[in-house]
Amino acid sequence: MPKQSTYTAKLPDADGIYHYTTEEDGIWSDLYQRQMTLLADKACAEYLDGVKLLGLKPDKVPQLHDINRRLNETTGFGVEGVPALIPPSRFYELLSQGKFPLATFIRRREHIDYIEEPDIFHEVFGHCPLLTNQSYANFVRRFGEKAVGLGKEYSWHLFRIFWFTVEFGLIDTLQGRRCFGAGIVSSPNETRTAMERGESEFRPFDLMTVLRTPYRIDIVQPIYYVIESFAQLEAIIEEDIGARIRDAKALGDFPPAFEAKAS
Ligand SMILES: [Fe+2]
Repeated sequence: MPKQSTYTAKLPDADGIYHYTTEEDGIWSDLYQRQMTLLADKACAEYLDGVKLLGLKPDKVPQLHDINRRLNETTGFGVEGVPALIPPSRFYELLSQGKFPLATFIRRREHIDYIEEPDIFHEVFGHCPLLTNQSYANFVRRFGEKAVGLGKEYSWHLFRIFWFTVEFGLIDTLQGRRCFGAGIVSSPNETRTAMERGESEFRPFDLMTVLRTPYRIDIVQPIYYVIESFAQLEAIIEEDIGARIRDAKALGDFPPAFEAKAS
């Protein structure tokens, strides 16, 4: 996540409505249609069902209160509008309360293919559909609770669990391997890298391995982890995560599968 953003979150009017311009609706529409075409045979069924359950529309940036209502009806989860970037402690606190933080701005056309900071397309199209799945929603909320309980010194390792599942997770299904991570489903480049190119390494999800795997946020992922089911995630987060992280720290990180970032 960049330290500073050139975007600022939109604020709602007195009725809770966020106003998007025709150009912004057009950007949503282009992103939505491109990804829905690409994901039809690549995203898992729970994700695609979630897009329908949320009632996402191809031609309009969705309203936060609509997403909130639909999520509440399905799993009791919700969303909360936040500035473009929020501190990790606030992020974890919201997750622990069953609220997904949602940046309300949408990327400019110059960033249509890639934007480092999460915009509303990434947040809603990427993250919210699976929050209609109870196992997945339970996992995300429990992740937040664990993060709040464990505190700052665990947060670096803990976030690797989030990164390799919520952001870049894959799942093996009866129909074959499918993607569900928000960073994959909201980006055409990541979708193709994870599902078509076969250049990356795919590993079965193993908690200790994940906790020892460094990542970089600003490159296509060289390593993906594959789960067997969303129930598996629910079970993993109930483990003694603090003890697992202490073990992972003692064992040390695997060598990074990427070049160090030029500074
Ligand atoms: Fe994200």
